[in-house]
Amino acid sequence: MGILDKHKIIETNATLLLILSFLVVTIGGLVQIVPLFYLENTIEEVDGMRPYTPLELTGRDIYVREGCYVCHSQMIRPMRDEVERYGHYSLAAESMYDHPFQWGSKRTGPDLARVGGRYSDDWHVDHLRDPQSVVPESVMPKYGYLEATLLDGEYVGDLMATHAFVGVPYSDEMVEAAREDFRAQADPDSDFDGLMERYGESVNVRNFDGQPGVSEADALIAYLQMLGTLVDFSTFTPDASR
Ligand code: HEC
Repeated sequence: MGILDKHKIIETNATLLLILSFLVVTIGGLVQIVPLFYLENTIEEVDGMRPYTPLELTGRDIYVREGCYVCHSQMIRPMRDEVERYGHYSLAAESMYDHPFQWGSKRTGPDLARVGGRYSDDWHVDHLRDPQSVVPESVMPKYGYLEATLLDGEYVGDLMATHAFVGVPYSDEMVEAAREDFRAQADPDSDFDGLMERYGESVNVRNFDGQPGVSEADALIAYLQMLGTLVDFSTFTPDASR
């Protein structure tokens, strides 16, 4: 009996074909899936990563709401042209507190993963209000209404509790102090010691939009100014053992 005849037996017997196909798929699946159970963590731990402050988290929500991700990625690939333009390639750990992640898939505008600290707050206010006033050839839409919309942080504690539910390490204390921390970060005259105790000394405390009250622009700019600044790349060395 030739090999083709043996194959004919399988092809003409539906049950046998089904059983053998199932076996093949099972083996293929196991080979792919089983190793994942033996990996303790696919994300390398990196110093400096912290959950977003209430104001930054609110800004991130506005970023998602406005669809900024449609034109901007937040994922610097380890290729020379990208690293020279944007800085150190993105680490998995840098988006570990992002639900959902903002890697994006299209770059109509530049990657924003390390935009934090690249421009002044005033530049961001002007740019959001009227992008063409600072970059004449820009096709970015105007977002002036963000600075006119004031926020009181009423629901930011709930937002943080939800993020805690999906694994972001917000403590009960952080959730309780959410509203207080939210206001403190946008007001350099306030008592922001608690905020820094909870999130670290390097948190930016400023009146981001330069106007009284906490606006959506304050939150969004606080978020943008933090992006890519949490990990100190002058001391970071990739862990080669993984
Ligand atoms: C229609 C596409 C589009 C959308 C939507 C968009 N942008 Fe842009 N963005 C651009 C383009 C193009 C540039 C480059 C020219 C410029 O600086 O305006 C840019 C530039 C920027 C820059 C400067 C980046 C750098 O490194 O120079 C920032 C910051 C920025 N956008 C933030 C945002 C935010 C925040 C949102 C959402 C509120 C947003 N963009 C929505 C297209 C877009």
